[in-house]
Amino acid sequence: MQVRLNGDAPTGVRTGALVVPVFSDSALGGVTLEVDREAGGVIADAIASGEFKAKPAESLMVHAKGRPYGRVLAVGLGDSAKFEPSLLARYAGAAVRYLGRRNVSEIAIVLPEQARGLETTCASLIAEGAIAGSFETGTYQTEPEKKIAVTSVAVLSSGLDKGAVERGIARGTAIGEAVNFARRLALTPANDMTPTHLAQEATAAAKSSGLTIDVLDEDRARKEGMGSFLSVAQGSAQPPKFIVMRYEGDPGSKELLALVGKGITFDTGGISIKPADRMEEMKYDMSGGAAVIATMRALGELKPKINVVGIVPATENMPGGKATKPGDIVKAMNGTTIEVINTDAEGRLILADGLCYAKKLGAGKIVDTATLTGACVIALGHAAAALVSNNDAFANEFLSAAKVSGERYWQMPYYEEYSNQMKSDVADLKNTGGRAAGTLTAAAFLRTFAGDTPWIHLDVAGTAYLENESAWQAKGPTGMPVRALVSLVETLAGTPMIATHPNGAHAKAVTTA
Ligand code: BES
Ligand code: MN
Ligand code: ZN
Repeated sequence: MQVRLNGDAPTGVRTGALVVPVFSDSALGGVTLEVDREAGGVIADAIASGEFKAKPAESLMVHAKGRPYGRVLAVGLGDSAKFEPSLLARYAGAAVRYLGRRNVSEIAIVLPEQARGLETTCASLIAEGAIAGSFETGTYQTEPEKKIAVTSVAVLSSGLDKGAVERGIARGTAIGEAVNFARRLALTPANDMTPTHLAQEATAAAKSSGLTIDVLDEDRARKEGMGSFLSVAQGSAQPPKFIVMRYEGDPGSKELLALVGKGITFDTGGISIKPADRMEEMKYDMSGGAAVIATMRALGELKPKINVVGIVPATENMPGGKATKPGDIVKAMNGTTIEVINTDAEGRLILADGLCYAKKLGAGKIVDTATLTGACVIALGHAAAALVSNNDAFANEFLSAAKVSGERYWQMPYYEEYSNQMKSDVADLKNTGGRAAGTLTAAAFLRTFAGDTPWIHLDVAGTAYLENESAWQAKGPTGMPVRALVSLVETLAGTPMIATHPNGAHAKAVTTA
C-alpha cells in the first residue's frame, strides 16, 4: 500500500472516497461540514437521528453524486476533549477496512484540525493505521481472497505543515510495514516458521535495511554456555538459532540498547505437554521475537541516532526423546543453575540466556518481550500488556513513548516475595513458582538475569494476537510491541515523537476550524 501527501483542497480531490473526521460531542466543522453541505446534510441528519454516534472508528458512508470524490466516509473520533493522536491510527485503519471491503482502491483521508502543531505524529499514525488496516490473513489459501482493496491512500493536509506531514508519512510507513511484517512472521504456521526460517527472515530483513546479523547455531550457543536456551531446544528435531541483529546509528557512542524477543516457533509444552485444545495458537509463541526482528528492520529504515541490538533465541519446545525432563537442572550463560520444574515454562529459560548475551554485548538498557504467561491473559485480558521493570525512570520513559503509539501497557509490581517463590531446594532457581502471581514470578525469574542493568519486561501473551477482529484491525497477530519499541528507541535517541501540544491543549475542535 502506498501512502502519500496531497496538499490540495479536499473537496477538489479526485478519489474513490474522501474520509472525514466526526467528533461525537461537537457539530460538524471544517472539511466535514463542507462535504456534508455538498451532500445535502445527510451526515448531520444521521447524527441528529442517533443512527451515527461518531464513536471511535464508527463509519458512515454516503455516495457523492457529481463530485470529484466518489464517496464520503465519515469516521468517528469520539469525544473531542479526549482526542489523542493515537486515535488517528484507528480512524485510518477503520477507513481502509470499511472501504477496502467495498472494493474501493483509492482513498483520501483528511487530517483533522487537531493535527496542527503535531503534524509528524498525526500523519505517522494515519500511515501506520492505514497500512496495518490492510493486513490480510489468507496467504495460504489457493486463491487468496483479497478482502481489503485499498492500495493508495492520500493524506489530505491542506493548510498544515507539509514537510512535517511528509516526515510523518515516511515514519508511519516504515512502522506500519514493520507491524505487518511481524504479523506475517507470527501468522506463518510452525511447519514453515522453523527457527531456521525465522533466522532467514531476520537475515533478509537485516540485508534490506542495512543492519548486521549474526546467527549462532547450536555449537556456538554451547560454546557461549547457553545451557538454559539449549535445554529447551534438545527435544526438537529442528536446530535452534540464536539471532543477533545490530543497528549502529551512533557509531561514536558506546551506549547500547538491547531488545530481546522470545522466539519459540512452536510451544507444545515439552514433556509437561499442553492440552490439545487451542494448542494451534502456540505457533504465535515467537511473536515477541517477530516484533524484535521487525522493529530492528524499521530502525534501519528510520535511522535514529542510537545503537540497538536485537536478540532472538529461536527454538521449538517439543517432547522428543532427548527432551528436558521435569527435575532436570540446567545452567545459563552466567553460571546460574535452574531446576526445570515444568518444561512448559520454557520462555523464561531461553530469555535468561538472551538477557545474559545482551549484557555480554555491553547493553546498558534492556527490554524483553514475550508471550510468556497464561496468567497475564487472566490478569489483563486482551486489553493491555503487562510491564515489569527494575527501574522506574526507564519504565516511565517507556510508558510515555508507548502512549504515542496507542499500544497499551500496564505496569505490575515487583516484590521480593516473587523472587522467593522462584528459589529451588537443589539449584539457584527453579523455573516455576506455583499458581500465585504467575506473570510476576516469571518476571522475577528474568529480573535475576538483568541484574543491575535497567530492564523492562513486556508480557504480551494477551495482546500479541486477538481472537476477534475490530473495525480497524484484522483478527490474529497484532505486531505488538513494534510501535512502542520504535517509539522508545526514538525517545532514547533524543528525538521523541510529540503527542501533545507543549501547553497540554490540543488545537481547537474541527467545529471552529
Ligand atoms: N507460551 C506460553 C504462555 C501463553 C499461554 C501464551 C497462553 C499465550 C497464551 C508459555 O510458554 C507457557 O506455557 N507458560 C506457562 C507457565 C507455567 C507452566 C508456569 C503458563 O502460563 O501456563
Ligand atoms: Mn510454554
Ligand atoms: Zn511458550
